[in-house]
Amino acid sequence: SAAEKAGYASFMLKEIAEQPKAVADTLLGRIDGSGALSLDEVRIPPQVLREVDKVVVVACGTAYHAGLIAKYAIEHWTRIPCEVELASEFRYRDPILDQQTLVVAISQSGETMDTLMALRHAREQGARVLAICNTNGSTIPRESDAVLYTHAGPEVAVASTKAFLTQLVACYLVALYLGQVRGTKYGDEIGDVVRDLSGISGAVEQVLGTMDPVRELARSLAHKKTVLFLGRHVGHPVALEGALKLKELAYMHAEGFAAGELKHGPIALIEEDLPVVVVVPSPRGRSILHDKIVSNIQEIRARGARTIVIAEEGDEAVVPYADHLVRIPATPTLLQPLVATVPLQVFACELATARGNEVDQPRNLAKSVTVE
Ligand code: AGP
Repeated sequence: SAAEKAGYASFMLKEIAEQPKAVADTLLGRIDGSGALSLDEVRIPPQVLREVDKVVVVACGTAYHAGLIAKYAIEHWTRIPCEVELASEFRYRDPILDQQTLVVAISQSGETMDTLMALRHAREQGARVLAICNTNGSTIPRESDAVLYTHAGPEVAVASTKAFLTQLVACYLVALYLGQVRGTKYGDEIGDVVRDLSGISGAVEQVLGTMDPVRELARSLAHKKTVLFLGRHVGHPVALEGALKLKELAYMHAEGFAAGELKHGPIALIEEDLPVVVVVPSPRGRSILHDKIVSNIQEIRARGARTIVIAEEGDEAVVPYADHLVRIPATPTLLQPLVATVPLQVFACELATARGNEVDQPRNLAKSVTVE
């Protein structure tokens, strides 16, 4: 009903707007006064976590994209090898699992059959399963060894938005917690990141306050057939998520690529006036990646693409090659998806609306997919 939408035209718009609170709520109570992580709710004994020699993330759709980002965080902060796999593929390839494997199953609904079957398979092989879930008491957390709940509140729109951001927060918490329990050499960095996480809800709020030009741009592209999305590092899963949102809401052909792969094929797709969204990594720190993506933007623009560039505030190198520039606040590299995804959600929602689509209930889709 209109009342449930609290004045918003759709649940999706309401849920996009709720993201700063969802992010803050998911952090609440999980970092103590000294900046250490307190995740007692993760009922897997620290001794067991110290012996983990492999992490495998299983999930579907948007939750899978959160998993792809989790891999960067887990491997960086813990040095434990991490694989990410589509839950629907997982058990069919006879994956290598044992008691030292930690399987992380990510699901908003907690009822996705593909993810449930993957975790059942993992437990049968002796692996421990930690669920990251938004729905209290749902099947996936009930069947897992432990659960870290995301506190996004109920997500009604079929397209996941606030649940995704909170899944990212939960993944960072798990990665940092593993690092803390295992005492990795990234101890100092972990303290800094925890501090940065505390400010991230405000950064998401800031992005939401600057979305009018993105809406206008989306409306102007409503007649297009294709939109491409490019990113590198954690920006690659962000690009995949931007493309998924556009497919499910606008029923448009959209594809996400790793920018480094452009030259291995996708660059052949670039033609006059093709909209290409590029998620640019921070110029600080990993500046080589930044330089490389700036040359990608240059290359595609030289071939006629219409470049829509999502870049950190103060990144001046992208300015000459951006037909449209969307600014996001500076964050540590690994946390950038929390702010970079938001414009892509707004873009897809607005573009779909301009095409006359029902954004909360896209055709052919259900909120939770309870069949394999
Ligand atoms: C997201 O916008 C999709 N509707 C879909 O990909 C979803 O993320 C996927 O089906 C997984 O759902 P879950 O998180 O409830 O397991």
